[in-house]
Amino acid sequence: EEFDRVTIVEVAPRDGLQNEARLVDTADKIRLVDLLSDCGYERIEVTSFVSPRWVPQMADAPAVMAGIARHFGTRYAALTPNMRGFEAAIAAGADEVAIFASASESFSQKNINCSIAESIERFRPVAEAAHNRRVPLRGYVSCVVECPYDGVIAPQATARVARLLADLGCYEISLGDTIGRGTPEAVDAMLAAVLGDIAATKLAGHFHDTSGRALDNIAVALERGLRAFDSSVGGLGGCPYAPGAAGNVDTVAVNAFLRESGFVTGLDEDKLERAAAFARSLRRAG
Ligand code: HMG
Ligand code: MG
Repeated sequence: EEFDRVTIVEVAPRDGLQNEARLVDTADKIRLVDLLSDCGYERIEVTSFVSPRWVPQMADAPAVMAGIARHFGTRYAALTPNMRGFEAAIAAGADEVAIFASASESFSQKNINCSIAESIERFRPVAEAAHNRRVPLRGYVSCVVECPYDGVIAPQATARVARLLADLGCYEISLGDTIGRGTPEAVDAMLAAVLGDIAATKLAGHFHDTSGRALDNIAVALERGLRAFDSSVGGLGGCPYAPGAAGNVDTVAVNAFLRESGFVTGLDEDKLERAAAFARSLRRAG
């Protein structure tokens, strides 16, 4: 390949908005996704099919999926914690689904109300259904270096859960520094452990910028061979079950950083700026 390509997976409509205290209008969510679709993404994570009691902001997932204007060449993804979520996501036209596990037991309990082992059993039928229907399946590991409840997470704990998700058939595993406390050293040690078992081409970095280290962590991951990163226009983001989890790293910053580092993302910077401005307006409008 002539250029070294990096894939940016846009997560603002899901990870970005899920943490907003104010309920964002469905029409504004659709507008955000449509602005993003214009930027040239291969993948946009649109919403999640989770319990509206747990995450009220995502209760309009079917309406958002129904309202977006789909671009040829873009896959529209959704989080699906269980079979109920999977069926609803497919009915709503999701092109890809993601299951989400945690490297820490406490975060697993707080976020999806079950142990890590139980979550894998809950994901198994989702993975089988995705396989049978030829729906790409992505996996997340949260708290890959640190957990808001359990503290520092051993690299081997993250590697073990990543392996479990790979065994379920995930084509890519996104490694989440959920609370953005990872230092480049800790991220490097975590990646070394995960890469002992899983190829870099199957991994993505998902960094929250709570401590301002997200770009440094992306640099470390690039060194380790990763070529896919999740980010959120306008730096929107957080997780309602991870106190202190500030915004995801801003797509605009990630894209500029990658360009300066000699990588090609295929995204249109002017259109990214426009989507980011709209995303920020949604946060302020509360
Ligand atoms: P539960 O209470 O153990 O499960 O929740 P349940 O089966 O007993 O269901 C509870 C209620 O939810 C029931 O309704 C179900 O019908 C309903 P009720 O009878 O009480 O009225 N329900 C659903 N409704 C809609 N869609 C569904 C669904 N499933 C059950 N799919 C459950 C277990 C997993 C459902 C719950 O804990 C949940 O929804 N958790 C989601 C939490 C979440 O979305 N967190 C944010 C995403 S993870 C994240 O942000 C991290 C990430 O960005 C990476 C990183 O940064 O590290 C990915
Ligand atoms: Mg996240």
